Amino acid sequence: MFETVAVVGATGAVGRIMLKLLEERAFPAGEFRLLASSRSSGTAVSFRGEQCQVEELTHDSFDDVDLVLSSTPDQVAAEFLPSAIQAGATVIDESGYWRMDPDVALVVPEINPEAALGAAGIIASPNCSTTQMVLALKPLHDASALRRVIVSTYQATSGAGAEGIEDLQAGTRAALDGQSYDYRCFAHPIAFNAIPQIGSVKEQGYTSEEMKMVIETRKILGLPDLAINATCVRIPVANGHSETITVETERAIDPDEARRLFAEHPGISVLDDPAEGIYPLPTACSGHDDVFVGRIRRDLSSPTGLTFWCVADNLRKGAATNAIQIAELLSANRSDSPR
Ligand SMILES: NC(=O)c1ccc[n+]([C@@H]2O[C@H](COP(=O)([O-])OP(=O)(O)OC[C@H]3O[C@@H](n4cnc5c(N)ncnc54)[C@H](OP(=O)(O)O)[C@@H]3O)[C@@H](O)[C@H]2O)c1
Repeated sequence: MFETVAVVGATGAVGRIMLKLLEERAFPAGEFRLLASSRSSGTAVSFRGEQCQVEELTHDSFDDVDLVLSSTPDQVAAEFLPSAIQAGATVIDESGYWRMDPDVALVVPEINPEAALGAAGIIASPNCSTTQMVLALKPLHDASALRRVIVSTYQATSGAGAEGIEDLQAGTRAALDGQSYDYRCFAHPIAFNAIPQIGSVKEQGYTSEEMKMVIETRKILGLPDLAINATCVRIPVANGHSETITVETERAIDPDEARRLFAEHPGISVLDDPAEGIYPLPTACSGHDDVFVGRIRRDLSSPTGLTFWCVADNLRKGAATNAIQIAELLSANRSDSPR
């Protein structure tokens, strides 16, 4: 068990779910420290039935801390997490900053737990849209090697953090009232809209979010040459990312086999009876820890293709749940843990 756990970014969209999960799952630890920016220093956050004071994150915040669960903007993770490692803490980071560092383990516990157990430095949790896709790809790849992946996402505003959640609510209210609203998070109005850009525009016209789905998936699956093409779109859904995923595998996987493979894999739930209106919906999947799949069907354009719909709570499995599962794995494998 870890003695002292620091939750960095405890006031953010992911951090608040992290606190909820630590509470719900009765994560074993002696003491918790809640850290955020100077803006939140001194504010009280409800945690485990008490009002806990948030402290300002500094380079000295990690004295006596043995586990850090961090969800801050990239530049904050870049600046402060090396101090946590130097202080001897185990660090699990939600930000994008460290994920592709060759010395950093990028972990989804249902896929590559050994990477977390063997890690010497920071352990990174993947981008939210990557985590749900890579978990759904894993049982298919184990059955027949993946040859090509094409994904389109329909991403919730909570994926852009606390400001994204506020922008959707306030922007929608303003639009219905015929008022203008200055969006803080999005470059275009998100109310009643779809924005085909998440992150900055990178090489060959792809965005940073799209390239994260490509390079992080390859790293987690250990398939450096896997062909992946991603299009990421922000839509006016509060929470829960949806994805259309089409795969080509070495031999064809038919929909019945795929349903069985998904259903047998830890962390995946199948909701697939379209004639009865049963398929994963972001409103229904929000608040749950699994990745949900449905609309499983043959790809009519390829003899070895399969297409499906995939939904997950981006703040849970896409972020906080994944980090806590990693922490639970490490906690259970510490030398002081009962065998
Ligand atoms: N949202 C998702 O679905 C999701 C999924 C996977 C990964 N992530 C990643 O997780 C990280 C957090 O995302 P989020 O959605 O929770 O963002 P958020 O709602 O904007 O929260 C950011 C958190 O970071 C803290 N912070 C900002 N600047 C800081 C500083 N200088 N020192 C200390 N703390 C600071 C904020 O504290 P204050 O409240 O004091 O400003 C807040 O607690 C990001 O890197 C994001 O890319 C997010």
